[in-house]
Amino acid sequence: MAALRHLSLFLAGLLCPAVFAVSPQAYTWRNVKIGGGGGFVPNIIFSPTEKGLAYARTDIGGAYKLNSDDTWTPLLDWVDNTRWNYWGIDALATDPVDTNRLYLATGMYTNSWDPNNGSILISADYGSTWTASPLPFKVGGNMPGRGMGERLAVDPNSNNILFFGARSGHGLWKTTDYGATWSQVTTLPSTGTYIPDPTDTSGYNSDIIGIAWVTFDSTSGSKGEATPRIYVGVANLGSDNIFVSNDGGATWSAVAGQNSTYLPHKGVLSPSEKALYVSYSDGAGPYDGTMGAVYRYNISSSVWTDITPVSGSDLYFGFGGLAVDLQRPGTLMVATLNSWFPDANIFRSNDSGQTWTRLWEWTAYPDMDKYYAYDDSLAPWLGPNYTYTGTDLKQIGWMIEGLSIDPHDSNHWLYGTGATIYGGHDLLQWDTAARNVTLKSLADGIEETAVQGLISPPSGPIPGFVHDDLNTVRTTEYSNPTWTTTVDLDFAGNNPATIVRIGNGDSSTGKQVALSYDSGSTWTQDNGAADNVTGGHVAISADGDTVLWSTSSNGILVSPQTSAFSAKNNSIFYAASGTQFYLSRDTGKTFTATATLGSSTAPVKIVVNPNLTGDVWVSTDKGLFHSTNSGGTFTAISGVNQAWAIALGKAQSPEGYPAVFAAANIGGMGYFRSDDAGATWVQINDAAHGFGSVSSNVLTADPRTYGHVYIGTNGRGIFYGDIQ
Ligand SMILES: *[C@@H]1O[C@H](CO)[C@@H](O)[C@H](O)[C@H]1NC(C)=O
Ligand SMILES: *[C@@H]1O[C@H](CO)[C@@H](O)[C@H](O)[C@H]1NC(C)=O
Ligand SMILES: *[C@@H]1O[C@H](CO)[C@@H](O)[C@H](O)[C@H]1NC(C)=O
Ligand SMILES: *[C@@H]1O[C@H](CO)[C@@H](O)[C@H](O)[C@H]1NC(C)=O
Ligand SMILES: *[C@@H]1O[C@H](CO)[C@@H](O)[C@H](O)[C@H]1NC(C)=O
Ligand SMILES: *[C@@H]1O[C@H](CO)[C@@H](O)[C@H](O)[C@H]1NC(C)=O
Ligand SMILES: *[C@@H]1O[C@H](CO)[C@@H](O)[C@H](O)[C@H]1NC(C)=O
Ligand SMILES: *[C@@H]1O[C@H](CO)[C@@H](O)[C@H](O)[C@H]1NC(C)=O
Ligand SMILES: *[C@@H]1O[C@H](CO)[C@@H](O)[C@H](O)[C@H]1NC(C)=O
Repeated sequence: MAALRHLSLFLAGLLCPAVFAVSPQAYTWRNVKIGGGGGFVPNIIFSPTEKGLAYARTDIGGAYKLNSDDTWTPLLDWVDNTRWNYWGIDALATDPVDTNRLYLATGMYTNSWDPNNGSILISADYGSTWTASPLPFKVGGNMPGRGMGERLAVDPNSNNILFFGARSGHGLWKTTDYGATWSQVTTLPSTGTYIPDPTDTSGYNSDIIGIAWVTFDSTSGSKGEATPRIYVGVANLGSDNIFVSNDGGATWSAVAGQNSTYLPHKGVLSPSEKALYVSYSDGAGPYDGTMGAVYRYNISSSVWTDITPVSGSDLYFGFGGLAVDLQRPGTLMVATLNSWFPDANIFRSNDSGQTWTRLWEWTAYPDMDKYYAYDDSLAPWLGPNYTYTGTDLKQIGWMIEGLSIDPHDSNHWLYGTGATIYGGHDLLQWDTAARNVTLKSLADGIEETAVQGLISPPSGPIPGFVHDDLNTVRTTEYSNPTWTTTVDLDFAGNNPATIVRIGNGDSSTGKQVALSYDSGSTWTQDNGAADNVTGGHVAISADGDTVLWSTSSNGILVSPQTSAFSAKNNSIFYAASGTQFYLSRDTGKTFTATATLGSSTAPVKIVVNPNLTGDVWVSTDKGLFHSTNSGGTFTAISGVNQAWAIALGKAQSPEGYPAVFAAANIGGMGYFRSDDAGATWVQINDAAHGFGSVSSNVLTADPRTYGHVYIGTNGRGIFYGDIQ
């Protein structure tokens, strides 16, 4: 679900220096609550030494800290456009000695989509404040294999030492000064050979996954001295992939007797057993996996034991998440990666993997015994009919790479899926005769959706996911059809309950346009849409009778059945390309070039004033432009060097011009509002609210409440802001 997006980046260096005085205005920012995450949570990490301390990392939306009431607090909302790739977290390490210390390996992509190198973000106050230590290579928080790990680990005996396993063949790195400076450990025999798909020309699947995990054997050392024994898992398929050092990382060798048939996803130490448990899958994850294994390595005897919970035709998946109960030596759990049908499964053993029980099993097909009660009260949209593909029903999930048992509470467990976090507080019930645990959605506070379209019609509820009340979770997910990604939305200016949306993939009929006539409560597919044509942008005419669809593959399509940037004149559509602005007066059938937009080369967004025909705003890479004559001529707004998302909202005074909101560079990059049609601006975001990559964000303003604005992000859900 974590959307893989090609980000259109801009060159900050080309922007003019600040020349324009803009004053700040205090805003209150809150998340629109979906309540269930909405994206992949690759791992959840408990502190082994401080009770109640745990963190979750996401692949595109930063990291979170767990609160005692099961809610989560975001740690990276300060991340702004210049540092957008900090929201991709490839690894997280909590310090077992100085538990206030926290480390993140950040960076989004190792291919060209992300031009930036990675960083280790360092906090000494549980994630409240951070310093960045730049790495001389890229980090791939949203790359294949992001659920392996952790690739970053703190030495439990000498916490100034950390190791980090890099991707792309950059090997193993070490710091001895709490992450401030790093150097490569060149003695590790392998920097990784596995590449998911060498033929992928985008570079996304054709990079080396590299070092997958680093696990210190805490039992091998003594407090205050570097831990001698360290295990490292490397993404190699069919050649040695688990290595050990017995001298603190100076020299390394392949662990004898290992089975390298599959990729090692997790290497988890059970200190009191002196055992290393390893989960394997035949793919790097998080989407793949058709075969796998689980092994136990007895460190004392150097003996490997295959403890795979299932075999034969029951084994059609790999294994990802692996947890040991630190209070109960020999108790461990492992999760499937991925059992797409009928659902994921989780296995538990209390005898070091000799015997297992599972979360569900077949009785007489298609009937299942589910040894759990399902509780999605915190995110009702997850069930009972929430589906990933639109064809089957899953409760336990998919992409389970993060599975953890609270080291201080054997009843408390959490796991991450492709969509949320589940877990519970009665895990020991599993071991009783009545075997039945409560599986509860526990992602409250995590808002990870990648928001690609956002509208705020003047009447009816606030769609996006149909939000009637912003503080309570949404109760329905757009369905019929259900898409993995809704890429754009529009509503009819004269009929606000009429909404059109377009999606990407997974509709059972292949049609990617849907219409709602009741503010998004129910939907019907637009049968006029061609099969298997996806993406792009969509607009609907003011009266809701014509849809204009700029597809990503088939040009601009018009559907008279159900037309729209002009809300008061039903026949007018606007378009822009390069430096040119176009007008159609015949419902999108023909377009005429009307005016040029300064020196712009990339128009971003066209917004019309719904109350004034011909009043149009266009944001571009070279500024913000305003026309009052249907695009016949444009005025460049003074002081705006570049603009991305823009929106018009309720005016400050009854007779006033609408409030203009813009994500823009106005004497500096930020989010701004103008109450005088662009003559003067206030900045409405602050240092604590950066909203990540600006080019990915969408903006919509409330026509009913002055100052109220929504920012849809790429990985941190939807924020709404109000004047304080
Ligand atoms: C990334 O690091 C490499 C190695 O130090 C350096 O050559 C390159 O310029 C860096 N890239 C960026 C965008 O800073
Ligand atoms: C290694 O693992 C594979 C897959 O589980 C298995 O078929 C094979 O027998 C194992 N090899 C050894 C030597 O145990
Ligand atoms: C691990 O090996 C040691 C030494 O041979 C042995 O005493 C111990 O029982 C083994 N543990 C398990 C769980 O097999
Ligand atoms: C476990 O409890 C749930 C909820 O009460 C129930 O639906 C389910 O059937 C129970 N499982 C078994 C195997 O009894
Ligand atoms: C879930 O799907 C089942 C089977 O299609 C249907 O009977 C049931 O009404 C649906 N439940 C909800 C809450 O939509
Ligand atoms: C270990 O697990 C089995 C199977 O679930 C269960 O019957 C047994 O009671 C458990 N033992 C303990 C000590 O929890
Ligand atoms: C749409 O794509 C699906 C899946 O690839 C395929 O089965 C179907 O035939 C396609 N439909 C058309 C009209 O091309
Ligand atoms: C809409 O625009 C068309 C073309 O400019 C014009 O002929 C028509 O009168 C306009 N309609 C309204 C209702 O303003
Ligand atoms: C359009 O007019 C309506 C009715 O006066 C008003 O409520 C709304 O805020 C206006 N919309 C904008 C964007 O100014």
